[in-house]
Amino acid sequence: MAREALIGANTTGETEDRALRPQRMADMVGQQDVIERLRIAVDAAMKRGECLGHVLFDGPPGLGKTTFATCIPRELGVHVEFASGAALKAPKDIVPYLTNAPERSVLFIDEIHRLPKAVEEYLYTAMEDFRIDMVLGDGINARTHSFRLNPFTLIGATTRAGMLSGPLRDRFPVREHLTFYTDAELAEIVSRNATKLGAQLNNEAALLIAERSRGTPRIANNRLLWIRDYADSRAGGKIDAEVAKAALQMAGIDELGLDRQDRGYLETLIRVFGGGPAGIESISHTMNGSVDTLADEVEPFLLRSELVVRTPRGRVATAKAFSHLGLSTP
Ligand SMILES: Nc1ncnc2c1ncn2[C@@H]1O[C@H](COP(=O)(O)OP(=O)(O)O)[C@@H](O)[C@H]1O
Ligand SMILES: [Mg+2]
Repeated sequence: MAREALIGANTTGETEDRALRPQRMADMVGQQDVIERLRIAVDAAMKRGECLGHVLFDGPPGLGKTTFATCIPRELGVHVEFASGAALKAPKDIVPYLTNAPERSVLFIDEIHRLPKAVEEYLYTAMEDFRIDMVLGDGINARTHSFRLNPFTLIGATTRAGMLSGPLRDRFPVREHLTFYTDAELAEIVSRNATKLGAQLNNEAALLIAERSRGTPRIANNRLLWIRDYADSRAGGKIDAEVAKAALQMAGIDELGLDRQDRGYLETLIRVFGGGPAGIESISHTMNGSVDTLADEVEPFLLRSELVVRTPRGRVATAKAFSHLGLSTP
């Protein structure tokens, strides 16, 4: 089930998410060291009149990879095209993006770890020499033709840097790893977005939402949208800490910000596997879910919160996880 569905249906969710997305790097909160480095790279490229070097973003979902990919072309004042690694199944799918790219434009490939090998290999010469080699004709008439491309910037995003091949990774001169946000940063994002939405929210409520958003701006925004609905329906539109707490409780979100899926993972690990060690495949089979969702969306925060540790033999629940679920440590 999609995470958003757990947080209360919000029919206008997608448009609102787009409305809340910062348009410029100056509007982004947190990730200041990343922003600083990118500003230098952007500034230098513009001063030299060259295209920006290829940029790779990695990190858990909802931390700002797509936001950076939309802000950077705006800073550069260039055209951007969006593509997804999952949809580029064969070289013919990616060729039009490359041959049509205007000079110095940006091509953003989301989920770049999902590109098949054959497509990835096309990117090597495209990224390095702005050239693609295509075989035209068959049999004895087959000829390799080289096509020159306009110099362009590839921005790649991935939740799994480890799944990217070495040769592809090495062709990105700029690599940035996005990390979870602090509660103060998330509270700032929530406050600004409440203003954008015209919602009345006090500082205490902003901090409470931040603390229960698993270090992730996208989750903080989704929580805010749900709490706003709740407040409009049940509390005369005013959001204070009590209203926020009640709304989150109703959505099954606890004090650490874990939702039902997160707790389901901990409960499975503890009840079924005696606290572990257990492999992620076994856990996901038991939960009837996908390994990717657990690895991308659930585990990073549980690991960071020290509720789970990874060992060579599998995942192990910590004493903190047992006590969080109100169980005694064996
Ligand atoms: N640094 C930031 N400052 C403010 N809001 C942010 C920031 N990063 C992300 N967001 C918000 O979180 C949402 C999800 O971010 P997104 O860039 O789509 O994440 P990703 O592509 O890494 O999954 C965005 O729509 C935006 O509203
Ligand atoms: Mg994204």
